[in-house]
Amino acid sequence: MIEIVPSILSADFARLAEDIARVERAGATILHLDIMDGHFVPNLTIGPPVVASVRRTTRLHLDVHLMIENPERYVEAFVEAGANSVSVHFEACRHLDGTLGLIRKAGAMAGVVLNPATPVSVLEDVLEVADYVLLMSVNPGFGGQKLIPYVLDKARKLDRMRREKKLALPIEIDGGVNRQNLADVVRSGCEWIVTGSAIFHTPDPEATVREMREIAAGATGVRV
Ligand code: DX5
Ligand code: ZN
Repeated sequence: MIEIVPSILSADFARLAEDIARVERAGATILHLDIMDGHFVPNLTIGPPVVASVRRTTRLHLDVHLMIENPERYVEAFVEAGANSVSVHFEACRHLDGTLGLIRKAGAMAGVVLNPATPVSVLEDVLEVADYVLLMSVNPGFGGQKLIPYVLDKARKLDRMRREKKLALPIEIDGGVNRQNLADVVRSGCEWIVTGSAIFHTPDPEATVREMREIAAGATGVRV
């Protein structure tokens, strides 16, 4: 099942509820929230109180992407705030298995994120204790960057790896996806397609999400 997953990083934070309602009307079922601490990435965004406010405005699945150091200290707070899935960077976890376990125990889906330069081979053994994998297709920190093409090869490798292991976990991709490259992204094996600026920096985000859902459906032959 392909999902177009709007990232609120490029939404208007003063009109968040309206922007969320727009993409919800277009059929989005998952919303992506980027958490940055100014250490793991050179930018700052939001913390659990804003996630809790978003939780009160929508019933969408809230997918929280932690771009922070020591994520194990905060996963419970984000799940308590209303996150349905929480992903942590491989590069930020000294005890990845333990941190994924913490997320599951708190009651959310546990995701592992790889930066562009981190090979998918590092997931070989941990794949079975993760609920999804997020492949960064830009260096994390900012919206509006260009997709790094070799990440689609990583998606194809990961797709092969999960099939060999008979695991059905979704592959999420994040960064630089737009209407032009979406079909290639879908064909590489990704299911949760995060998109920020290509949705919220258009005059009609609702129409854009509808259009992207059509493109994604056309690329797979499956109705999204
Ligand atoms: C980047 C964030 C992304 C970002 C994607 O660090 O993780 O979720 O919002 O934005 P676009 O789609 O503009 O590249
Ligand atoms: Zn993200």
